[in-house]
Order: sequence, then C-alpha cells, then structure tokens
Amino acid sequence: MLENFDRYPLTFGPTPIEKLSRLSAHLGGAVEIFAKREDCNSGLAFGGNKLRKLEYIIPDAIASGADTLVSIGGVQSNHTRMVAAVAAKIGFKCRLVQEAWVPHEDAVYDRVGNIMLSRIMGADVQLVDDGFDIGIRDSWKHAIAEVEAAGGKPYPIPAGASVHKFGGLGYVGFAEEVRAQEAELGIRFDYIVVCTVTGSTHAGMLVGFAADGRARNVIGIDASCTPAQTRAQVLEIARNTAALVELGRDITDDDVVLNEAYAYPIYGVPSQETKEAIRLVGRLEGMITDPVYEGKSMQGMIDLVQKGFFPEGSKVLYAHLGGAPALNGYGYTFRNG
Ligand SMILES: Cc1ncc(COP(=O)(O)O)c(C=O)c1O
Repeated sequence: MLENFDRYPLTFGPTPIEKLSRLSAHLGGAVEIFAKREDCNSGLAFGGNKLRKLEYIIPDAIASGADTLVSIGGVQSNHTRMVAAVAAKIGFKCRLVQEAWVPHEDAVYDRVGNIMLSRIMGADVQLVDDGFDIGIRDSWKHAIAEVEAAGGKPYPIPAGASVHKFGGLGYVGFAEEVRAQEAELGIRFDYIVVCTVTGSTHAGMLVGFAADGRARNVIGIDASCTPAQTRAQVLEIARNTAALVELGRDITDDDVVLNEAYAYPIYGVPSQETKEAIRLVGRLEGMITDPVYEGKSMQGMIDLVQKGFFPEGSKVLYAHLGGAPALNGYGYTFRNG
C-alpha cells in the first residue's frame, strides 16, 4: 500500500513481537498477550512511534528545501524529542514549542527526560503556558513565523506528527509489517491495542488493518481525556490516509473503536490504576511503560482482559509505542517503586 511513497529510514527495520507469557498467565491464561516493541525501533534517542510517521514526512521536508524542523508538544513530549533527534540526524536545525499540557509539579519536570534529551540534541526549546490541546496551535504558528523572520526555512510538523498529509502512512506500514510477521509466526492477532492521543498512530493502523477486515479489531485506548476531539481527529486522518493509499473504500465513524475509560483523571496524570499497571508489567515482564500513554493503554488492556472483553483463546497484540523517558519527570510518584 506504500510503494508510491518515499521513505527516509530512521528505524532499525521490523520491530520484534514478544509474547508476554507471565502477564498472560497472571491474567488467567484465557487470552494470549503479545507486545510489538515499537519502543525499541531505533537508535535515535530511544525511539518510539513518531519515527515510523517521520519516515514518510522527512522526504517531503528535505524536498521542500527547508533547514529547520518546527514542532510542538507538551513539556515531556516524546514527539518533540523524536523531532529533535531526526533534525540532528539529517543536519537540520530544530525549533520546539513545549506547552504546559500537564498540571504536574515534580520539581525537575521541565529539566529531565524528553526535554533534557531535546536540549542535549541541540534543539531550540521554548516553554509556553498554553494548556493541552491536540489541534493546530497559535504558539506553533508563531514559532514558524519567527524562524521565517530570522531568515530560516521552516518545515512545520504538527503535534504528534498527526495532522500532516503523510502523518498516517507510517502506521499503515505497521499493519503490513504485522501481516508479514503473522505469516512467519503462523498466527493471526484477533485484536491490536493502541494508545491514542493525537490520532495518526491509530488512524494509520485502522487503514492498514481495514485492508484485511480488521479495522474494528484495532482497540484505541484514549489517553487524551478529550476523547471527542481525539476520535474526530482519528477519523479525519484515517479518511485522508485511506484516500492517499487508495484503500478502495471510505473509513467511517463506525470503524473507529476508542475506549474512553482509562484517560482519567486528565492527560499526563496517572491514576492509581495506571500506576498499578505500570508496576505490574514492570514486575512480571521487565517491560517499562510510562504514566502518560502506555501505562494507560496497558491498564486498559489488563482491565479489558479481566472483564472478559476478549473472547477466550484470543491473541491480543499490544502496540508498545515508547515513551519511557517521560518517567524521569515522575520521580516523586514512583519514589517507593
Ligand atoms: C509513547 C506514546 N504512546 C502513544 C502516543 C499516542 O500516539 P498518537 O499521538 O499518534 O495518537 C504517543 C504520542 O502522542 C506517545 O508518545
């Protein structure tokens, strides 16, 4: 589905699929849980889902003659860390807007983890007071204008690399990769669990798995806590991406499965249950999930298994999208483990 699109390689190649045997057994053994390790996908600044998206965006950035990637996220955005790493790798400058998306007051929150890595990689990091919103932001438009005014050539990349014409392509590729791995392993996944916020990860998967009738088997776990906006953004990106790859059918609202039950209390703040999920999978599998994204989708998957949402014998693929560097901003939360 992606033959007609340029791809700039930023990842090691297909990511491993690992069986989470101890977690599966702990949850009763009726469901087999696997993880696709997108968190281990690259040597670029700890990797993660944004690199798959950026692989299809960077050729356009280079072709545009730009010299500066301009992007936006929260203070502990994984996405902006990935943009900083890619800018360094391709020899671009990087301008980042870090909004105050999370009402979190760990003393070192704006000095460790993702934002520290972006600074180390040479990004020009600007903190602003605006709160959480996955849409197109004035602070980002200002940064683009400032780069231009200073004589630079900006290439704008929106939050999460999502609302970009090529934002959904990378995760269409994920679905194709899973199909190839299924053929090798001789298994077929019944469900794919994915954390959803700015939407293009879920949207790309939807389109990719729609090709074999599994669009509704992609279970999005909302971590935005603004699910109506996230759902609308997933649908819009999926529709555009389906047209772009010539899927041959439209994507409708009915194709989008977004579970809203686990994003509480608010974006970026882990509930007690999210923290328990992070500890559980850490202690059973040595697998690290974060309090903003993957901890919430892990909590959601665990709860859905416990509630019997997945029929007995199901094979469930948890997409581990990265995000562990943000844990450094939650040192107080996990001070006792
Ligand atoms: C670790 C991690 N998981 C999940 C997501 C959600 O992906 P998306 O923004 O494409 O919905 C993000 C980024 O927002 C992320 O950094």
